[in-house]
Amino acid sequence: MGFPQTRMRRLRNSPVMRRLLAGTQLHVDSFVYPMFVCPGEGIQTPIASMEGCFHYSADRIADPAQEIHSLGISAILLFGLPEKKDAQGSQSWSEQSAVCRAIRQIKSKVPGLLVITDVCLCAYTDHGHCGVVADGKIDNDRTVQNLAQMALAHARAGADIVAPSDMMDGRVQAIRQTLDQADLADTAILSYAAKYASAFYGPFRQAAHSAPEFGDRRSYQMDPAAGYQQALREIALDIDEGADLVMIKPALPYLDIISAARRRFDVPLAAYQVSGEYMMLCQAAAAGLLDRQQAILETLTAIKRAGADILITYFAKEAANLLHG
Ligand code: PBG
Repeated sequence: MGFPQTRMRRLRNSPVMRRLLAGTQLHVDSFVYPMFVCPGEGIQTPIASMEGCFHYSADRIADPAQEIHSLGISAILLFGLPEKKDAQGSQSWSEQSAVCRAIRQIKSKVPGLLVITDVCLCAYTDHGHCGVVADGKIDNDRTVQNLAQMALAHARAGADIVAPSDMMDGRVQAIRQTLDQADLADTAILSYAAKYASAFYGPFRQAAHSAPEFGDRRSYQMDPAAGYQQALREIALDIDEGADLVMIKPALPYLDIISAARRRFDVPLAAYQVSGEYMMLCQAAAAGLLDRQQAILETLTAIKRAGADILITYFAKEAANLLHG
């Protein structure tokens, strides 16, 4: 039956009717807030490329972590910078790295906050690639060994969840085996399972000093033009290797992938609204082109509606405040 018997606007006419039909609800519990830790002491420096974000040294991380916990946000995702970069990224698996020191601080001072750590070499290698370079190529299997050691150091320091973001093959399996052998069976793995070679990581790479010195990441991160089937294979393999949760990244340009993954898999699904997505909205709002608060809630709602359970976003604090109203 068509118009005039059918009138869709009946379902939208009042605020309470719209509320009745709002199938997608944002909850602060499902937010994850990314944070950056650096070596040294007494450091709390604004990151030029990312509005409202800071580099914290480990001794300064507890207060902002407490603030995040007080807002009801469940977890933070930690990224680290090394004192010195080298070809192997060897500081990534040091138990004295900024990340490990930050984990210990947070676990002792804010024990109720979940700590997720990014596991990748790109901020630790002098060439800026996510893996070990041999003959001008990224050596998958040697990289995987280093990543497993990095994940082990984070888990020993007390990380609840380790999150490999490198896109090497077989790293989830290697990390799971290494953790299990070290009696760390309770440490969960969130794999960046479908991560695309995206322009939207630009502001982050300036923050993490992790842009590749030569070439690009297209031999390991996924081609944005690849069909959704490739994403589903990546996710299936990671689940098979032992991933407890899986991630799709970036978020808004890849809603179709989130939705396809939601329909296929029953594991918890995370989506990462990355630095470029974040700064694009910040700058458009600052230019008076759109309403910042509405845009934050609309994009997060869209990512959730597509099927994500967990929303990793630099807007987590602001969105939490908006939801608390
Ligand atoms: C490390 C990593 C990156 C991001 C998360 N982990 C950068 C990259 O792959 O180049 C990007 C996060 C963001 O843009 O917010 N491999």
